[in-house]
Amino acid sequence: MQTTTFKPCDLVIYGAMGDLSRRKLLISLYRLEKANLIEPDTRIIGIDRIAQDSAAYIDIAYKSLQDFLNEEIDASVWKTFSARLSYLQIDLTQLDQYKQLHDVLDPSTRVMVNYFAVAPFLFKNICQGLDQSGVLNKESRMVMEKPIGHDLNSSKEINDAVAEVFSEEQVFRIDHYLGKETVLNLLALRFANSIFTSNWDHNTIDHIQITVGEEVGIEGRWDYFDKTGQLRDMLQNHLLQILTFVAMDPPVNLEAQNIHREKIKVLEALRPITIDNVEEKTVRGQYASGVIKGTAVPGYLEEEGANKDSTTESFVALRVDIDNWRWADVPFYLRTGKRMAGKRTEIVIYFKRLPHNIFTDSYDVLPPNKLIIHLQPNEGIDIVMLNKIPGIDEHIKLHKTKLDLSFDESFKKSSLFGGYEKLVLEAMRGNPTLFLSREEIEQAWTWIDSIQDAWAHIDTAPKPYPAGTWGPAEADELLARDARAWEDPCYK
Ligand code: BG6
Repeated sequence: MQTTTFKPCDLVIYGAMGDLSRRKLLISLYRLEKANLIEPDTRIIGIDRIAQDSAAYIDIAYKSLQDFLNEEIDASVWKTFSARLSYLQIDLTQLDQYKQLHDVLDPSTRVMVNYFAVAPFLFKNICQGLDQSGVLNKESRMVMEKPIGHDLNSSKEINDAVAEVFSEEQVFRIDHYLGKETVLNLLALRFANSIFTSNWDHNTIDHIQITVGEEVGIEGRWDYFDKTGQLRDMLQNHLLQILTFVAMDPPVNLEAQNIHREKIKVLEALRPITIDNVEEKTVRGQYASGVIKGTAVPGYLEEEGANKDSTTESFVALRVDIDNWRWADVPFYLRTGKRMAGKRTEIVIYFKRLPHNIFTDSYDVLPPNKLIIHLQPNEGIDIVMLNKIPGIDEHIKLHKTKLDLSFDESFKKSSLFGGYEKLVLEAMRGNPTLFLSREEIEQAWTWIDSIQDAWAHIDTAPKPYPAGTWGPAEADELLARDARAWEDPCYK
């Protein structure tokens, strides 16, 4: 079994004054506190180069909760939570300054969990500083999240720098989609229900669609996003993770290395997209101005700080083929974009049509069964199937109906927790199951780099699409060429 530590931690946050820390980490930690999920003796130590004392940091933490928590701050929870917080001023580029950690940490009673909430160029410094300061031991962990590089080489550099100090078992790489309940539920859906385990391959499935549509634009992150694009920002990580959960073979059990192994096998089987097939298999788009839910929004090139000549994509659609036994001739169509008609993350499994139709009074061609998995929002599952319209005066007349399972209604539980809470908790507990292995990330980059190189080679501009739509017409043509169409994202 994986060793899961329920020991108290010293959670050290590098970049304590930064956006990630203030918007996500502190909020998640407060919520965990409220749910009584943090070990009583755990401490949270914020580190940044700004000169201030712990009292000032605690004030900033309170302000962050006021700004980003979206609920009243509970005074008694805050009292317990704030008592855990302290601050240390360290310039992360100055290796001799890490010595201070010695005076604060106590590795004999607490596990040191190092959360790198800073830009990756600082990772090497932090690793060296920690190494030299002598505060690490075998139980120490490090947590990092995307961007883990912008291509295979830069990702290897980051992983190499980290590997000089932390062994692979000590490294927890976050993809926040793996903390989402509904993504995790894919494992249950697939491997705990015999109706799906036995109907999950090229024999019964025609094709699969994965849509991750966002209403937001680039939210003031022009510099980051324009160098990155939607392929690297969303597809390399979140969509490929969803794809691996949908496509992988059953793991032997739920231990991290067994899940990783099955996911890597899927990534290895992705058919490369190269200059020879990139035009036929990919579509790049960029949003123009438009209207989303009645509000006019600017185009990508009109965003604040925009370089008007940018050819960065804010939308991407792909046909992905998986060259293995299970998925032979079953294409996966992936699309994701900013400023789309709605925020919707959905997987649609299209089952094969029946070979013969005896209900020609109702349909010339019987529509296929579909399994629609709503990952967010309104989490749930629909099965689209055909039924006879009831009534004695009716001959057998068919109608499409939906078996509809809403998680909110079935479990009577509101989704208080987002992905971060789950992942921060698992990192503190030392359970690696929901984190990414180095091999997975590098395999994903290898596949993405080939697309990126092919795009650079053909050098065509992304196709414009009005904000508030589901992308450029070329994305529809991608499926129309295979005599298929995108599922209209369902509004439950
Ligand atoms: C992040 C991307 O990883 O995921 C953002 O950098 C994107 O650009 C976000 O908006 C989407 O996450 P979620 O949880 O809102 O679907």
